[in-house]
Amino acid sequence: MSESAKLSFKGQDYEFPVITGTENESAIDIAKLRASSGLITLDPGYKNTGATTSAITFLDGEEGILRYRGYRIEDLAEKSTFLEVSYLLIYGELPSQAEYENFSKEITHHTLVHEDIKKILEGFPSNAHPMGVLSSMICALTAFYPESLNPNRSEEEVNLSIIRLIAKMPTFATWAYKNEMGHPVNYPDNSLDYCSNFLKMMFALPAEKFDVDPVVASALDKLLILHADHEQNCSTSTVRIVGSSQASIYASISAGINALWGPLHGGANQSVIEMLEAIKADGGDAKKYLDKAKDKNDPFRLMGFGHRVYKNFDPRAKIIKKAADDVLEKLGVNDPILDIAKELEQAALSDQYFIDRQLYPNVDFYSGIIYRALGIPTDMFTVMFALGRLPGWIAQWKEMRENGEPIGRPRQIYTGANERDYVSMNRR
Ligand code: SDX
Repeated sequence: MSESAKLSFKGQDYEFPVITGTENESAIDIAKLRASSGLITLDPGYKNTGATTSAITFLDGEEGILRYRGYRIEDLAEKSTFLEVSYLLIYGELPSQAEYENFSKEITHHTLVHEDIKKILEGFPSNAHPMGVLSSMICALTAFYPESLNPNRSEEEVNLSIIRLIAKMPTFATWAYKNEMGHPVNYPDNSLDYCSNFLKMMFALPAEKFDVDPVVASALDKLLILHADHEQNCSTSTVRIVGSSQASIYASISAGINALWGPLHGGANQSVIEMLEAIKADGGDAKKYLDKAKDKNDPFRLMGFGHRVYKNFDPRAKIIKKAADDVLEKLGVNDPILDIAKELEQAALSDQYFIDRQLYPNVDFYSGIIYRALGIPTDMFTVMFALGRLPGWIAQWKEMRENGEPIGRPRQIYTGANERDYVSMNRR
């Protein structure tokens, strides 16, 4: 029997259907709220508002659960690969051997980009943040593939855009880094797997032989899996709402990259390292910085802590924290800020302010420590997040489009001036 919710307003009773998902989450369907009552809801930051139904990713913030298409993140991080997880998120099922090989081959054969894109890259000064370079080059794909401007083309054509995005993102990401370093860009090496190809494009120099360290490639693959999707987060919601206007997939993903850039979202992984470096430079006094984070008059926040959904440990943070110990040991790296991070975590988890607000380490708290150990520079950390999140953004854009969702256009409550007459300049 379907549930419903009742609302009383100005002596009138209203009843709205309640929908329940496959994990027993329930929502009031308010599609007819304004038409029947004249009311709208108000929820800045959408803390209590569901924007859509989705079959892609399930989070349970209280229990610290994350599953992609029903598969536990712990199992996927341990047993799968980033390309296999990408296939799962986008097409809904784990691929067969043949499906995986075809997908992987398709991606390998689309890694090159039009030479004219180099002219766009060369237009950026070397101090350009790689996230701005990346979002610009992704959006530039609309110029090189103008047929993509119509997202309602055949499934084959939409799928080709999807393959091109996954194939070319590592090329663009590494070119953004090379632009910053003043080094020549590297072309893809189709004999390598996805992560090894990325690392070679990122770090190879024409003057020296470069061999990919399998430990580094494996650590990177796990990190990309852990970042691959996270239901309706800020950047994914941005991709969906831009896509809902029927803008191209490239424009939608470029918008998502820009939303991820902010330090409250994907930019936090860069801010965490900058914070830990500052604490180290300031004598390593974790308690001093906890006090700053608790001080309402101090804008400082403990970066990498807290989450809109997780009110328990972010399961990704648990996996990354363990991986950080493993990777640094395998690489023989002794990074003092890992100790500072652990000390800060312990202090925060036993501090009433953080306990009362259910603030735990999130995905960004430890990821930067691994990226550093892999030789990736701090301002490339959020680019790494975008590389990982790309299949999730694509899957969510594809689902929004296949569900025929309407253009996203929230309402508001107006609080400005009431009607008034125009006053000529000489009377003001
Ligand atoms: C990501 O949404 C996703 O799924 C995102 C993500 C993904 O995979 O896509 O998981 C990736 O973005 C992870 C989050 C990365 N951001 C950070 O680490 C930045 C630091 N954290 C925050 O600024 C904050 O916790 C947010 C933005 C993550 C969540 O903010 P909310 O849900 O809007 O919560 P809030 O800002 O209203 O905070 C609630 C209370 C406030 O105190 P009071 O006003 O109740 O006294 O907790 C405090 C906040 O001041 N608080 C913090 C804090 N985070 C929240 N205080 C100190 N340090 C912090 N980090």
